[in-house]
Amino acid sequence: MKALVYHGPGERGWDSVPDPSIVDPTDIIVRIDTATICGTDLHILKGDVPEVVPGTVLGHEAVGTVQEIGSSVSTVRPGDRVLMSCISACGRCRFCKEGRYGQCLGGGGWIFGHLINGVQAEYARVPFADNSVYKIPDELTDEQVLFLADILPTSFEVGVLSGNVAPGDVVAIVGAGPIGLAAILTARLYTPGKIVAIDLADSRLDAAIRFGADVTINNAREDAVARIMELTDGLGADSAFEAVGVPESFELSADLVRPGGRVANIGVHGKPASLHLEKLWIRDVTVTTGLVDTFSIAQLMRLISTGRLDPTLFATHRFDLEDTMAAYDVFGDAANSGALKVVLSGPQSTSKPRKAVMAAAV
Ligand SMILES: NC(=O)c1ccc[n+]([C@@H]2O[C@H](COP(=O)([O-])OP(=O)(O)OC[C@H]3O[C@@H](n4cnc5c(N)ncnc54)[C@H](O)[C@@H]3O)[C@@H](O)[C@H]2O)c1
Ligand SMILES: [Zn+2]
Ligand SMILES: [Zn+2]
Repeated sequence: MKALVYHGPGERGWDSVPDPSIVDPTDIIVRIDTATICGTDLHILKGDVPEVVPGTVLGHEAVGTVQEIGSSVSTVRPGDRVLMSCISACGRCRFCKEGRYGQCLGGGGWIFGHLINGVQAEYARVPFADNSVYKIPDELTDEQVLFLADILPTSFEVGVLSGNVAPGDVVAIVGAGPIGLAAILTARLYTPGKIVAIDLADSRLDAAIRFGADVTINNAREDAVARIMELTDGLGADSAFEAVGVPESFELSADLVRPGGRVANIGVHGKPASLHLEKLWIRDVTVTTGLVDTFSIAQLMRLISTGRLDPTLFATHRFDLEDTMAAYDVFGDAANSGALKVVLSGPQSTSKPRKAVMAAAV
């Protein structure tokens, strides 16, 4: 089969590799119908995730059709369309039993395109299938559910739920990339009073408006703290989500919240950030962190089925799966291409595969 293979920092190829096969009785083999690329894949390609060894197939977000099942798999059959979570769950360890699948001790957690071969390929081996894939209702297209693999549950669980968003709240979201935008979409489920998106890039702030932000602040030009204070009678936001992953954006998020408010950190940090306890302790501020568990996939899928949530807004560019190399170039140059998420369609994808790159909807 063909797959997108990591060959060390800066090096990738669309290579011929052996077809995957069942290794453990809990495995299934899935034909990849539709996949996408994540910012994390770009980090891996930069060499920022040294556990990924050269030769690994990348990718942890995809929809596919079950081809073969291991002897102990009982909840899916060949022919079923499934969404693969970016997080695998053994289902039996202490943390899986708490729904904390990201912390799985039994060989799961974030493994696709990290510790085992991923899903930017024609086929993939999916471990712990009974606990890690979700059947897709016939009426939903691949593209409608694709972003449930990672970004929507991440922003919902690690942002909206940890941030305790309540009706009427002012929610400040620092960073309006796919994660910040997914936080806007899923925060809206709780009818906040105002969603404020903060980013350095105007193109991302324009996207934030399309996704439902009420106010945007470009913090390259404007004082975000002063603007939030103006909007909240000098108190601060009820919750602030950090959706970037650099020290400045974490420290900004902490400066934006009201007494008793919550800072929900979503960004992946590579460097230490300052926690100004000398300012925060007296204000009853709660800071949360987290790796996504994806326990909310089924709930979010029901919201898509009933028309309450429409993630197809993310799909700015479409490619055939065999053109994944070109898709990386476009996704990796988001500042010029305007890419939010690229859709990679195999021959059987229910989202229409196209030979040529379609123009961005932005
Ligand atoms: N916790 C988890 O489980 C989890 C899961 C997936 C992704 N993430 C992380 O979430 C973060 C966001 O992901 P993404 O894909 O949206 O990233 P992205 O790089 O596409 O978007 C980040 C946005 O932040 C903006 N930005 C950069 N510096 C800023 C600053 N100082 N102030 C305001 N805005 C700033 C950029 O202009 C960009 O629009 C990343 O760190 C990613 O690794 C976390
Ligand atoms: Zn991801
Ligand atoms: Zn487990």
